Amino acid sequence: MAEFVRIHEVGPRDGLQNEKRIISAPDKIRLVDMLSACGFEKIEVTSFVRADWVPQMADGAEVMAGIIRRPGTLYTALTPNLRGYEAARMARADEVAVFASASEGFSRRNINCSIAESFQRFAPLLDKAAADGVPVRGYISCVVDCPYDGPTPPVRVAGVAARLLELGCVEISLGDTIGSGTPERVAAMLDAVLEKVPAGRLAGHFHDTNGRALDNIAVSLERGLRVFDAAAGGLGGCPYAPGAEGNVATGKTVDHLAVLGFETRIDRVRLAEAEAFARSLRGER
Ligand code: HMG
Ligand code: MG
Repeated sequence: MAEFVRIHEVGPRDGLQNEKRIISAPDKIRLVDMLSACGFEKIEVTSFVRADWVPQMADGAEVMAGIIRRPGTLYTALTPNLRGYEAARMARADEVAVFASASEGFSRRNINCSIAESFQRFAPLLDKAAADGVPVRGYISCVVDCPYDGPTPPVRVAGVAARLLELGCVEISLGDTIGSGTPERVAAMLDAVLEKVPAGRLAGHFHDTNGRALDNIAVSLERGLRVFDAAAGGLGGCPYAPGAEGNVATGKTVDHLAVLGFETRIDRVRLAEAEAFARSLRGER
């Protein structure tokens, strides 16, 4: 039997957060419902961040309230601090995610604090989530390059990953935020991280700016990773990462994994419909 690889669908959040045209809550709800029908185990629906920083995600509570929850799918949200966590809990998020950076420049621009300060903000969130029985994922941005600080030393990524694991994150998603990673550099980064965190606790999060995301997934598979983030229709980008293009497209990832002999248990026909709808939401850039 083919080995299972889990696709973590981030389209409604990472895919849409950077769209300039405000997308209506009913359209976001429709996208999540279409993705639910594909059979994803986890869908990242929204984020609970400052509305003046990321206006597109200001309707997170409304979207969470409107979706139809499919048994077997967990609906997750990005939460930078305790305030975001409380809002996500009110909205009945099944899992939340904190987001750190491996570079100081991006940490400052994205979440308005240093890397060390971000851990101080995450700690009470993780304590509260543990008490509530809510799993917390940890993202690390700029694991290859930072748009502000340049190349990221792999050992820095390993240090941040080890700290997130220590704080209690169940899974750590390694983000090539601007999509500049090559398989060689991703491999070097992974080799450093794997000295601190086992492959079973890691996920790959590749943006496809230079068209290398599938190659980067392949080197990650070789190193034992079995979870990959992807966005329906390849939408995406980060408002605080100039030049960042979309996440690797979900359909393309599912197809590539099938060719490599892995099973994703995603309904490919329904996914094509969801991706067409996701792409139709994209406004002028
Ligand atoms: P801050 O200004 O440092 O926060 O923002 P603060 O604690 O100093 O509070 C200042 C004000 O913000 C207060 O309001 C707080 O209540 C409010 P006031 O009392 O002045 O009226 N506030 C909040 N409001 C709503 N939701 C909250 C919240 N927290 C405080 N959660 C903060 C820090 C992180 C909140 C801010 O910088 C922010 O919202 N940043 C948004 C970052 C973001 O969403 N970026 C995109 C996602 S990350 C990404 O895309 C990368 C990823 O995909 C992986 C990859 O590709 O690399 C994950
Ligand atoms: Mg991203």
